[in-house]
Amino acid sequence: MTIADIRLLHPGPASSRPLALDDLIDLLAPADRSIARVRANAVSSVDGSATVDGLSGGLGGPADLVVFDLLRRLSDVVVVGAGTARDEGYGPLVLSDDVVSWREEHDLAPHPVLALVSASLRLDPSDPIVVDAPVRPIVVTTESSPREARVRLEEVADVVTCGVDRVDPRLLVSALVARGLRQIHTEGGPSLLGDVIAADLLDEICVTVSPGLEGGGGPRIASNPESLDLRALHLDHVLLSGDMLLSKYSRRR
Ligand SMILES: NC(=O)c1ccc[n+]([C@@H]2O[C@H](COP(=O)([O-])OP(=O)(O)OC[C@H]3O[C@@H](n4cnc5c(N)ncnc54)[C@H](OP(=O)(O)O)[C@@H]3O)[C@@H](O)[C@H]2O)c1
Repeated sequence: MTIADIRLLHPGPASSRPLALDDLIDLLAPADRSIARVRANAVSSVDGSATVDGLSGGLGGPADLVVFDLLRRLSDVVVVGAGTARDEGYGPLVLSDDVVSWREEHDLAPHPVLALVSASLRLDPSDPIVVDAPVRPIVVTTESSPREARVRLEEVADVVTCGVDRVDPRLLVSALVARGLRQIHTEGGPSLLGDVIAADLLDEICVTVSPGLEGGGGPRIASNPESLDLRALHLDHVLLSGDMLLSKYSRRR
């Protein structure tokens, strides 16, 4: 399979030739799938913006997409805030046939489950993201969400309540683990990722630094109304593709 030219910088020695797909999988695969783990990925401009013209797409590139796809491939559930699903026009989480075969060979379900997080339930039950999903999606919501919208969504998704006015990430993680979904991957966006970090639940984050300056008022990759004490992280690896840096950090133990 052709992948973008991605080289390992750290841990050294730096690779003189592009990494093969299996090398990347080894770098990104969880050490022990039986242990629940929450990871995230995000892309930022050099000056810290999570968007260009309101979307993250302008920051990505082939190498970032390879990592994005591999993180989906390796997860049991992909958790996405409704804002990102709406803004980015998410489609159903369908993997290619060869990735489905790879997952089956590695004793994984053919597809990860998509979990959409929403308090308002402003989600269209006829949207392809749910009706064309290869696995019944999960909608994670609150006790105060609108009842009619909930009833409509229950026809196409498992609707799970995890909090009163906002989804509590701790209840969210417990609910997913109770379903056997231990490798929990979130693609954000910033509000959801901010909540996960504030709850001190993030074990790992893959951050791509896109070689550009946004210079405007774009959001950070994670935002939360309250500042936290700085959480120290361990640098697991740094990859280079052209001028793009792709890193993985994990919680210090
Ligand atoms: N650079 C990156 O890596 C990256 C990644 C993802 C997204 N983005 C960008 O980020 C922007 C969207 O930002 P955002 O902060 O709005 O994204 P978001 O976190 O995906 O969406 C916020 C919405 O998701 C739901 N939500 C999130 N956390 C919740 C919680 N704890 N409880 C209940 N509902 C929750 C709510 O939906 P309801 O309104 O339905 O209640 C909330 O309004 C877009 O421009 C997107 O392109 C960038």
